Amino acid sequence: MKLPTDLVQNLNEQLNRELYAQYFYLVMASYFLEKELKGFGRFFLKQSKEEGEHALRLFSYLMEKGVPFHPLPLEIPPKNYETPLACFQAAYEYEQKVTLSYYNLLKKVRDMGEYDTEEFLWWYIREQREEENLMQGWVHKLTLIGEDAVGLLVLDKEAGEAAEKEESD
Ligand code: FEO
Repeated sequence: MKLPTDLVQNLNEQLNRELYAQYFYLVMASYFLEKELKGFGRFFLKQSKEEGEHALRLFSYLMEKGVPFHPLPLEIPPKNYETPLACFQAAYEYEQKVTLSYYNLLKKVRDMGEYDTEEFLWWYIREQREEENLMQGWVHKLTLIGEDAVGLLVLDKEAGEAAEKEESD
């Protein structure tokens, strides 16, 4: 079934949010790598790659539906953060914002009876739950260590190992 024009626009905006997340996390990776916190750097590189895949999934859906692609401008993500915790808090906040945008869209497609797109969106709802949990977990751990430099190095190592494990799975 052909997608209504406003739904095409909404899906394209979601694609843009995913591309922004890819860019956002790439910049966050640079924030950590430039501080020699390579574990967190690797973590955000992995997140960035995943966000790119989320964007591609939306792109493929639009192509499958025969929709012409209209690229949207991308914002430039912030580069500097006061602390690693502030960086993770920004990531967590962004994930919550993205989740809310998927909830709003899900409600809309349900009301419209666009069940094909509803089924497509459920994958993102589940993915968002995982990503929010992940970011929330790191915010929690970084809050616990406070200003402890040794604690930060331990968490950096843990983040790097977790990213490496996921990449090899
Ligand atoms: Fe794919 Fe975390 O938004």
